[in-house]
Amino acid sequence: MRYVTALTLGSRMISPVSDNQPLLRVENLCIAIQNAGQLQPVVRDLSFEVQASQTLGIVGESGSGKSLTVLAIMGLLSGSPVRVTSGKVWFDGKDLLQLSDAERRSIMGDGMSMIFQEPMTSLNPVYKIGDQIMEGIRHHQHCSAKEARTRALQLLEKVKIPDASTRIDHYPHQLSGGQRQRVMIAMALACDPLLLIADEPTTALDVTVQKEVLDLIAEIQQDTGTAIILISHDLGVIAQTCNFVAVMYCGEIVESSTTEKLFQRLGHPYTRGLIESIPPLHSDVEWLNAIPGQVPALNALPVGCSYQPRCSHAQAQCRQNPPVALLDDEHIVRCHFAQQLQGRAS
Ligand SMILES: Nc1ncnc2c1ncn2[C@@H]1O[C@H](COP(=O)(O)OP(=O)(O)OP(=O)(O)O)[C@@H](O)[C@H]1O
Ligand SMILES: [Mg+2]
Repeated sequence: MRYVTALTLGSRMISPVSDNQPLLRVENLCIAIQNAGQLQPVVRDLSFEVQASQTLGIVGESGSGKSLTVLAIMGLLSGSPVRVTSGKVWFDGKDLLQLSDAERRSIMGDGMSMIFQEPMTSLNPVYKIGDQIMEGIRHHQHCSAKEARTRALQLLEKVKIPDASTRIDHYPHQLSGGQRQRVMIAMALACDPLLLIADEPTTALDVTVQKEVLDLIAEIQQDTGTAIILISHDLGVIAQTCNFVAVMYCGEIVESSTTEKLFQRLGHPYTRGLIESIPPLHSDVEWLNAIPGQVPALNALPVGCSYQPRCSHAQAQCRQNPPVALLDDEHIVRCHFAQQLQGRAS
C-alpha cells in the first residue's frame, strides 16, 4: 500500500512522489463565509490526496471545517453563504470546481457519493426507503423500475438490514437510527462510487451500533475497493478504520500521516491531546486529559500558530509565525517544534 499526502509550504506544494494518479487531489483549497459583506476564511490552504482503495480519516474538533471541506468537494456549497475562494479539486482527472452543474451531477453517484451526518434529515420522511434508493439507481443507470427495485433489495441485504424484502417498503420513521444509517450507506453505494465520503456516519448511534456500521463500511471497502473519506471528531474511530489520517484544527490540516506513524510518533501537540483524550479500553482511569481552553472563534484566530494559546509547548516563535514541518515523506506536521517534540511525553 502506498500512502500519499500533501501539504503546502506557502505556495509550494510538498508531496511525496506517487506512481499513481490520485483519485482525488485537493490543492490549496480555501473556503470563506460571507458575513456582513466580508469574507471570513474558514478553511485555509488545504491540500491532500486520496488514492483508489485508500481510507483517509479527517479528524478534528467541532467547527474545524471538516464538513465544509467535503461539501466543497461534492459541490454542495452553492446557495449558502459559504464559498470556495481559491484552490482546485481534481477528481478522476477532472477539475471539479470548473464543471457545470450538469457535468458535476453526472459524476455524482457513480463517481462519488456521500453519507451525511444526520440520516433523518437526509432521508425524505414521506417516501419509502426502497423508492429513495431506487431514485438514485434509475437516475444514473437508466434501468427499469423492476431492475432498480431488485438492485435496491440487494443493497439493503448488503448493508444487513434484517428482513430487507419487507423493510424496502417501510418509511424512514419505521426504522431504528442504526438501520436508517445503513439505508444511507445503501443509497451512497447504489451506483458503485469510486469515492465514498462518510461525514460522521456514526455520531448519532450508540457504541455497539457504531461499531457495526464502521465494520460494515470497512467490509464494503474490502469487497469493492471504493476509496473512502471518513470524517469524525473521534480519533479512536479513525484509528480503527483508516490507513491515513489528516488532523484539522481551525480550518487547517495540522498533521497528516499514516495512522501507524501518527500514533507512534506524537507529531503535533494537538494530535497528542486528541490521542490522550481517547478513553482507554482496559484501565479504570478516573480523568481523561482534556485539551485545555477552547477552539478560537473564526474571526479571532491567534497570530502565528492557531493552536498556540492552548499549547503547553508554545514559545515566542509560535506566537509570531505560522508553522510548517515535514518529518518525512509520509508525515507532515504544522508545528515549529515537531522534530524536538517527537516521542516526548507531553
Ligand atoms: N452555512 C453556513 N453559514 C455560516 N457558517 C457556517 C455554515 N456552515 C458552516 N459554518 C461555520 O463554518 C465552520 C466550520 O463548519 P463545519 O460544519 O465544516 O465544521 P465541522 O468540523 O464539520 O464540525 P462538526 O464536527 O461539529 O460537524 C463552523 O464555525 C461553522 O459554524
Ligand atoms: Mg461536520
